[in-house]
Amino acid sequence: MQLKFCSLLVVAFGVISSHCAWPDAPLVASGRWIHNSKGANVTYAGVNWPGAADVMIPEGLQYASIEKIVSEIKSLGMNAIRLTFAIEMIDDIKDNGGDVRLSAAFNKALGTTNGPVVYNKVLQNNPQFSASTTRVQVYDAIAAECFKQQIYVHLDNHMSKGEWCCSTTDGNAWFGDTYFDVAKWKRGLEFMVTRGATWGNLVSIGMRNELRAPEDNATLNSNSYNWPTWYTNMVAAAKIINAANPDILIFFSGLNFDTTLSPVVAGTGSGITFKKSDFTFSNKIVLELHNYQNSATSCSSMQSSLQSSGFSTLTAAAANQYPMLLTEWGHDWSNSDYLGVYASCLHSYLPAQHVGWTIWVLAGSYYIRSGTQDYEETWGLYNHNWTAWRNAAAIDNLKLMVQATLA
Ligand SMILES: *[C@@H]1O[C@H](CO)[C@@H](O)[C@H](O)[C@H]1NC(C)=O
Ligand SMILES: *[C@@H]1O[C@H](CO)[C@@H](O)[C@H](O)[C@H]1NC(C)=O
Ligand SMILES: *[C@@H]1O[C@H](CO)[C@@H](O)[C@H](O)[C@H]1NC(C)=O
Repeated sequence: MQLKFCSLLVVAFGVISSHCAWPDAPLVASGRWIHNSKGANVTYAGVNWPGAADVMIPEGLQYASIEKIVSEIKSLGMNAIRLTFAIEMIDDIKDNGGDVRLSAAFNKALGTTNGPVVYNKVLQNNPQFSASTTRVQVYDAIAAECFKQQIYVHLDNHMSKGEWCCSTTDGNAWFGDTYFDVAKWKRGLEFMVTRGATWGNLVSIGMRNELRAPEDNATLNSNSYNWPTWYTNMVAAAKIINAANPDILIFFSGLNFDTTLSPVVAGTGSGITFKKSDFTFSNKIVLELHNYQNSATSCSSMQSSLQSSGFSTLTAAAANQYPMLLTEWGHDWSNSDYLGVYASCLHSYLPAQHVGWTIWVLAGSYYIRSGTQDYEETWGLYNHNWTAWRNAAAIDNLKLMVQATLA
């Protein structure tokens, strides 16, 4: 009841009433911890909901309603989603005549034979949508349902061009790469955090997923794939985000597919100096890494590699102490990988370190991936048609990790 009352107030006044406790935003970084507005620790335990591929609509809606999917995330005990988007969606809004309607988006990505079939299934499952609904409105709807069910939304700019991520030759790898127009990237970030300011539960954004060497362009790669270029662009984008939406946390990702942030933690080295005093909003800065050491045979070596890549930011000895999240890790769910060294290690290590995380990936299949429609995702928590979890035993195990993380 209280929740409904709270949502009604939001609708009526367009602001979060002080009577509405959750989400106790804005969140702030305090040393290595994230605190809510009451000063309590907040740790994320969540899942990646992909929306940055060709259609540029969050996945799964041809198989299930937003309400059902969010309820199922909630049933895992999770408190956050990492919702990915492509800059191309905002380019369309700004440069190409406005936000694209769902039917046109499906037709363009899947063709005029399959596009309408999938589009109609999306409408059947999500009758709140209609012929006039646009892509960004789907983001609004997901955020609204998450608000209702008290799930934080973390936005992530995953790609510039909407397609499967990531390779070093996909043209989205680095600032200035074929599709990675820096000005459009900044504009897209600004647009989404401004839009998200009305949601009530947008608590943070990741500026760019998995920066990597632009190997399709040898000149760009040798001249600019380095930390000074990273610093210039990431700091400039962070300032734009903070000016547009001063409430949200801003996640800095690192190089080499976001597997290293060591000069940022050290505060110096590799040609950069990263000082808290360079920011008027240093209490909004959070670090994020990814880890896919799936063939690891030793948990202690995984731990050392995480420490040296950036987790040492959590220690009192770090020059720069910041909160750290593992915003991507994951494994195949069609077998017993959840019991292997890699998954077991993260299951125990992340909660022990009080490190938040979002697992890859909330999916059973994608609208389209790398040219294949209805692409089966065995790394997805769902079965192909998003009707049940792919691996019940692995889900029980994941729930324990969520509980340990939020304990
Ligand atoms: C945050 O959690 C840590 C570890 O449990 C604890 O030491 C610290 O006091 C907590 N901070 C707050 C503000 O509750
Ligand atoms: C490589 O990138 C630079 C900088 O963005 C660009 O000017 C140049 O045209 C690119 N070269 C090729 C071959 O794409
Ligand atoms: C969904 O997939 C499962 C197995 O993956 C199958 O048993 C079930 O019949 C499918 N349901 C629908 C509605 O297609």
